[in-house]
Amino acid sequence: MKKVGLGIVGLLGHAGSHLKICEKLKDVKFVAGCDKSAAGRKRGARAGMTVYSDIKEMLKHEKLAAVIISTPNFTHKDISIACLKAGVKVFCEKPMAHTLADCKAMAAAANKYKGFLQIGFELRTCPVMLHIKKMVDGGAIGEVKNIHFFQTPGLKKKGWKLDPKRSGGLFIEKLCHQVDLFRYFLGEPKSVQVFMAQNTVPSYGIMDNCYAVLEFGKGRLAQISFLSGLAAVKKGMKNSDYSKMGHGLRFDFIGTKGSISYNYWEKSVSVTKLVKEKGGSHKVALVSKKIFKNLTPEELYENLVFQDTDFIRRVKEGKKENFSGADSLKTMQVAFACEESAKKRKKVLL
Ligand SMILES: NC(=O)c1ccc[n+]([C@@H]2O[C@H](COP(=O)([O-])OP(=O)(O)OC[C@H]3O[C@@H](n4cnc5c(N)ncnc54)[C@H](O)[C@@H]3O)[C@@H](O)[C@H]2O)c1
Repeated sequence: MKKVGLGIVGLLGHAGSHLKICEKLKDVKFVAGCDKSAAGRKRGARAGMTVYSDIKEMLKHEKLAAVIISTPNFTHKDISIACLKAGVKVFCEKPMAHTLADCKAMAAAANKYKGFLQIGFELRTCPVMLHIKKMVDGGAIGEVKNIHFFQTPGLKKKGWKLDPKRSGGLFIEKLCHQVDLFRYFLGEPKSVQVFMAQNTVPSYGIMDNCYAVLEFGKGRLAQISFLSGLAAVKKGMKNSDYSKMGHGLRFDFIGTKGSISYNYWEKSVSVTKLVKEKGGSHKVALVSKKIFKNLTPEELYENLVFQDTDFIRRVKEGKKENFSGADSLKTMQVAFACEESAKKRKKVLL
């Protein structure tokens, strides 16, 4: 069986998870790895790769079919474009990049070199999300009129992710996933407005408490409530402790005939329907509540396995990206509009 000759740029942190997953994929042959840090290169060498500290050197000396880029956001543009120029198929972690100019340059390079540029908006390969999308497309809740995303995450340690100049900000580094998902379900938004409360966590350089409203036309909205400073942590916490400690992660889809609610920490998907009663009133009736007790976090949300498997399969079969670089640029344009709206404290039309 012909294997995909793979390179990995970034070998620690999130890249370490990509590496672990790809080590198990039978269609992959690791060729080379690149990391600025000696610890990263040591990890790559352990996986049997030739390691480099500079992407240009790696591309000069190695023949790669595909590459996974999982380095900080502010490095994505240069690394992706160098790979596209060398004819290597690219999977680049989300966000596309930390500035809109860099995102545009990446999409333009994919176009210029007729390249393969897959951005890691993982919710589009998440099994639970795909299950919900199928229900929605099958008309289970009528026309979707509102999608609400609610998250109370744990705090991040100081580093480039909390520095807007290097990460791009909250909507670029983190909430681009949700912006992308809204586009996946509802199409292109017409406007965005972000209301940002004064930050409460002193070490945060990015927004830490905010509310966003995206208007999609035809009476459809998507909303984000993102509240840091609520979820507590304790040593040795188990997955089952998270919701008790204030961690929340939930998507609600409200349609003209019913709703679907996905609660990550509860591992549940609930479906309701809107029922007309005698006298003209309505009530909401619970149709089903499925607890996915046996699904792993990977299958529920953090689906790197599905994402990496899909990427490798597409490369191997000579297929196109799951969604193009140009499509990812559209998600990034909306995410940057959210950042702009928060800063200017006004609605931004798209
Ligand atoms: N679920 C998700 O979608 C998800 C989760 C976490 C991180 N990410 C994304 O993955 C990327 C990496 O995040 P992270 O948390 O692992 O960051 P990190 O800073 O912890 O690690 C990045 C790795 O890249 C290496 N590196 C830095 N600059 C480099 C360069 N120019 N060339 C080669 N190697 C370089 C570092 O030495 C390190 O090993 C980011 O874009 C982040 O947004 C996505």
